Amino acid sequence: MEDLSTAQSSPARSTRKDIFEKCWNFNRARALQEAGLYLYFEVFGTREGCGASEIMLGDRKILMFGSNDYLDLTNDPRVKEAAIAAIHKYGTGCSGSRLLNGTLSIHVALEEELAEFVGKEAALVLGTGFQANYAVIAALAQEGEVILCEHNLHASLVDGALRSEARSVRFRHNDMQHLEKRLQQCDEGALIVTESVFSMEGDMADLKALTEIAARYGARTYVDEAHGIGLFGPTGAGVAEEQGVLKDVDVIMGTFSKSLAAAGGFVASTEPVIHYLKHLAQPFVFSASVPPASVETARAALRILKTEPDRRNAPMVIAAKIRADLSALGFNVIQARSPVVAVVIQEDVALFLMAKQLLEEGIYVNPVVKPAAAQNLLRISCTAAHNDGHASRLVETMERIAKRLNVELEPVKANGKANVAL
Ligand SMILES: Cc1ncc(COP(=O)(O)O)c(C=O)c1O
Repeated sequence: MEDLSTAQSSPARSTRKDIFEKCWNFNRARALQEAGLYLYFEVFGTREGCGASEIMLGDRKILMFGSNDYLDLTNDPRVKEAAIAAIHKYGTGCSGSRLLNGTLSIHVALEEELAEFVGKEAALVLGTGFQANYAVIAALAQEGEVILCEHNLHASLVDGALRSEARSVRFRHNDMQHLEKRLQQCDEGALIVTESVFSMEGDMADLKALTEIAARYGARTYVDEAHGIGLFGPTGAGVAEEQGVLKDVDVIMGTFSKSLAAAGGFVASTEPVIHYLKHLAQPFVFSASVPPASVETARAALRILKTEPDRRNAPMVIAAKIRADLSALGFNVIQARSPVVAVVIQEDVALFLMAKQLLEEGIYVNPVVKPAAAQNLLRISCTAAHNDGHASRLVETMERIAKRLNVELEPVKANGKANVAL
């Protein structure tokens, strides 16, 4: 047994570097706070008494353009009722891991429904989308193997690759030739990891080319459909379905925190892969199961998205209008087809000023800075609750603020690229 009295009086303790030093020296966020440009951890209030896509911030109604509630289901009475009924029937939590006491019949039912929805043999529900990526990539790729990571991956995928004992190699964003070159450079068992819709930029992966290359080189594929499920494909199963390659993707990952109106995540694949993950994906095994209300919320949202296909188009139509209008004004907009409109504003202060002044005018958008995205951007997220009026208000307000801030806009010319210089 260690003698604690000696350990405490040891001179080494007083000279040792304090591991909290990095916290005392972390000044980036405080600098933004002092400059009045800090926009994180805003404390929102109720949605009661608000219009569609509005939420209270203090005593003001804010038009929300930062939420990933793409199908506008988080406030849907049918979904809310399903959550309330689940609490009445099963209580508020399971207080245990799925492996032991934490599996309810509704977890199994949801997994069966999700597997069927994305055309796979089996699915596994995990605590969050982040947990799903982190746990599953680390469990699937091991020492002596290689993970080929698309350049613009979400932090959860990057962290999964870092946690894995496999070697990680990156290929350039949406560059299939580079992916192929990377595969030629290695002969280990390989897992290719990509997002279907890139969460920050809103552009899409070429899953057809990616799965073709994977098949040619004997590699497996893992596709994060966090921003694809519920929005793309004839049944809403995602971009892989839209591109006709659902059966060619080995692992489909999705989250409940976007189109499925709750919190939680899942992966779907063959039965042996899911069986393996059920026993060996550590953050799944050693963590409590998803609470009943979230499970039943996701199930209700899934039922609605299957039966109300019109919801899928609505956010896309609004996003296309905003993209076109902002581009025409000269903002540097990433061209894409998803509900995510990304406006590049490279300079940090300009980016935060733009977001802050938008909020002062009653509109919330996400300011995203590197390394959360490959370049600094204002991320505008469109949902089925937005209408043309909301879109026009956003665009007009952005134009007005850009003028006020002396932003030099360069309207798109024929074949010309729009730009914004702040
Ligand atoms: C592409 C992508 N993957 C995974 C996640 C994590 O999902 P969750 O919010 O369910 O943890 C997100 C959410 O931001 C995401 O955008």
